[in-house]
Amino acid sequence: MAENLKMYIDGRWVEARSGATFVSTNPATGQALATVPRGGAEDVELAVTAARRAFDGGSWGSAVAERDRSRILFTMAQLVAEQRQELAELEVLDCGKPIADALGDIDEVSFMFEYYGGWATKISGDIPPVGPEAMSLIVKEPVGVCGLIVPWNYPMLMAAQKVAPALATGCTVVLKPAEQTPLTALRMAEIAEQAGVPAGVFNVVTGFGAEAGAPMLTHPGVDKISFTGSKAIGTMIQRTCADQLKRVTLELGGKSPNIIFADADLDRAVEGSAMGVFGNQGEVCSAGSRIFVHRSVYDEVLQGMTDVAAGMKLGSGLDPETTMGPLVSALQRDRVQAYIDAGPAEGANLVYSGRRPVDPALANGYFVPPTIFEATNEIRLAREEIFGPVAAVIPFSEVDEVVRLSNDTEYGLAAAIWTRDIGLALRTAKSVRAGVVWINDSQPAPSETMWGGYKQSGIGRELGRYALDAYLESKQIYINLS
Ligand code: NAI
Ligand code: MG
Repeated sequence: MAENLKMYIDGRWVEARSGATFVSTNPATGQALATVPRGGAEDVELAVTAARRAFDGGSWGSAVAERDRSRILFTMAQLVAEQRQELAELEVLDCGKPIADALGDIDEVSFMFEYYGGWATKISGDIPPVGPEAMSLIVKEPVGVCGLIVPWNYPMLMAAQKVAPALATGCTVVLKPAEQTPLTALRMAEIAEQAGVPAGVFNVVTGFGAEAGAPMLTHPGVDKISFTGSKAIGTMIQRTCADQLKRVTLELGGKSPNIIFADADLDRAVEGSAMGVFGNQGEVCSAGSRIFVHRSVYDEVLQGMTDVAAGMKLGSGLDPETTMGPLVSALQRDRVQAYIDAGPAEGANLVYSGRRPVDPALANGYFVPPTIFEATNEIRLAREEIFGPVAAVIPFSEVDEVVRLSNDTEYGLAAAIWTRDIGLALRTAKSVRAGVVWINDSQPAPSETMWGGYKQSGIGRELGRYALDAYLESKQIYINLS
């Protein structure tokens, strides 16, 4: 089963210069899936040099007609769509998520390339008035070589979320997928190659963060780093990139509030809130992991959430019946399990804990069943990002109180609000310090919209036209007409 894969640098499929490799595993079984090059500084050097040459030498960027870039991105969208089943299965094998979710991811990847393919021909500047004797042109130019470092929870989608706008604006890229889930990033390189992306424009260096990611942070040939992942690595990246004033976009974690008011449509609120924290095994930066429930409906909601959790079927993501897969790695399972184990001693009341799958073939999989705690906003369960299927349910009485509690966090990525009162919904939405607010829903993130965090959830915005800004510089050209 385990294949030997190569990475993609300067239009060629290569081993790591050191010859080192590592294994990506299937988290449902713990078995080896593929052997992948273990990239290091030498490989990053080659990739950045190639990307630099492609950018400066005019095989991409401002030297290529926008419509040609656009067509290439449309072709990538089509190739992804044609291979959707295969790509989704690969994603399931590498990261564990249920196949239906993976298909949804891959469909969005295809759309992402289509969407930004459209933008490639529509990025324009401005002509601010500067009086009768002069003219000022604001032009938009690609920022240059971009190091894109992505996580393992939506491997291909997180990669596309950065690659598509970067290529659309004319940047060249070095993509560093997470070591847990490198496989679909390599497939994306194949697709880019087939679609006619010139050599050096799109490079993939596989490997571990400290070896294949860190060298991009200090490499003078890299103009911009875009990162999605943990707050710990995000702050380190910001600090390191400050030395060369590299442009930095960070999409970090969250501890997002999910507020259920008394008048909410409870069936929808319960189902949506449960999926907001258990969906994708809880490995979601915007997971609604703090569930604030009005006291008058508290018991009903807690019971409803328990029913949803009890109805979830853990198993291999390839089984169409499965609604919750394994966590991505043994390390992630252990991290999440440690939060669960410590919960009661820290003052949380364990309400529900599901069961691992019984199939002996999955005995070594990294499963953590859905878990529900009653908590207060002060304890660790409600303050730290767990990144697993663990809900902290917290009662409230007053609107002001729940707004205060919602904002009492270092994070500010997302919030969900459930109520039939549109005034209450919008007042609350305006009061919550978060970059994304859902009303009567949780987690949708269509490519056309905007994504990004307040406070320590990140810097910059992705998706929609907002992502373009992350890959563009603005230049002012002043012309004396006299
Ligand atoms: P991480 O932040 O270490 O990994 C994310 C990416 O950063 C990976 O590609 C990794 O190889 C890379 N990386 C790691 N160290 C690096 C370094 N020194 N220089 C450059 N790149 C580096 O996240 P990890 O350890 O996999 O997960 C830990 C926690 O992070 C999770 O429990 C979760 O709370 C959070 N997380 C948040 C994500 C989000 O979507 N915001 C995604 C993944 C994890
Ligand atoms: Mg894997």
